[in-house]
Amino acid sequence: MSLTPTPADKFSFGLWTVGWSAQDQFGSASRPDLDPVESVHRLAELGAAHVTFHDDDVVPFGSDTAERDRILDRFKGALTETGITVEMVTTNTFSHPIFKDGAFTSNDRRVRRYGLRKVLRNVDLAAELGASTFVMWGGREGAEYDSAKDLYAAHERYAEGIDTVAAYIKSKGYDLRIALEPKPNEPRGDILLPTVGHALALIAKLENGDIVGLNPETGHEQMAGLNYTTGLAQALWADKLFHIDLNGQRSIKYDQDLVFGHGDLFSAFATVDLLVNGFPGGGPRYDGPVHFDYKPSRTEDVQGVWDSAAANMRTYLLLKERALAFRADPEVQEALEAAGVLELAQPTLAADETLESFLADTSVYEDVDVDEVAARGFGFVRLNQLALEHAIGAR
Ligand code: GCO
Ligand code: MN
Ligand code: MN
Repeated sequence: MSLTPTPADKFSFGLWTVGWSAQDQFGSASRPDLDPVESVHRLAELGAAHVTFHDDDVVPFGSDTAERDRILDRFKGALTETGITVEMVTTNTFSHPIFKDGAFTSNDRRVRRYGLRKVLRNVDLAAELGASTFVMWGGREGAEYDSAKDLYAAHERYAEGIDTVAAYIKSKGYDLRIALEPKPNEPRGDILLPTVGHALALIAKLENGDIVGLNPETGHEQMAGLNYTTGLAQALWADKLFHIDLNGQRSIKYDQDLVFGHGDLFSAFATVDLLVNGFPGGGPRYDGPVHFDYKPSRTEDVQGVWDSAAANMRTYLLLKERALAFRADPEVQEALEAAGVLELAQPTLAADETLESFLADTSVYEDVDVDEVAARGFGFVRLNQLALEHAIGAR
């Protein structure tokens, strides 16, 4: 397996990732601004297939129509020259002070209406550029204080906003799906739709929920103390895994946006195992772009930006190689078998079994030897050690 990224790997980067000039709450930028056109060229040279962006990453907030057209023409030129395509577009509804209390859930209706127009305008751009996914991260949809929001109304307005965008996509006939991106906190004290599960529950109540799914981010689930791979799995099970944001996070703290694998490496191995091998017993697979949403650390210079972009892809490919070897190992197959991992795909009731016959079957309950059943060892530790040895290249 080659460790050199090619477009067939479907690697994708947000322009805001490599383009982050590293200003944070404690200090000013440590790197110069990057021209998005240069980023497209550099990412193409590194082997990426796609880029993604917020409207404001390419066209500065407040640009007039003529300026917007000029900037977009130049940007499209870079796409044509490099063969890079835009697979996802997203909207910045969090940077400008107008969005300080959120967009779709701001207490101020003028802000909600302004935010909705900004998003719809960007949906048109996404469709024009051929994107297939429209990510909605609720950057400032939340609060610091419980008294600040009518939380019932906030969910109503959030659902209304998302449904309106979805209805607009349908009315225009765009081949575009919305992917909600959960995050528990930062920049708000608490953000609405904090996890994959919360977002799935909201989608189930939407009128146009059929074209609304998820864009789970590694670090965001981990900031909530959750297992990212489990979140991906539930989204897949619900047929809602529309997109992914891969990065690295070390435990429950601020959003670190490290290079993929530079956080919880063994968890990253499990993620790649699911993405490239699928569930052990079969089921839905993720076939979309492998999108990185990381930040080159503030300590890095411009060369470090490109080194870190390459590191995401190389780490992914290394883990892919390891994950393929893991599943192909006969000892692993045998350990999976012994652990009952493959037994779980079998329905608990037989196809022709009625609830009545199940209740009448004394071998299920009355006659069962609970001590004998309880005596089974699952061997999960042995299986996990095999996974670890594959992950670190010891096998
Ligand atoms: C963050 C988010 C963002 C979103 C992006 C796309 O924590 O800042 O991950 O990077 O992914 O705004 O909507
Ligand atoms: Mn993030
Ligand atoms: Mn993200």
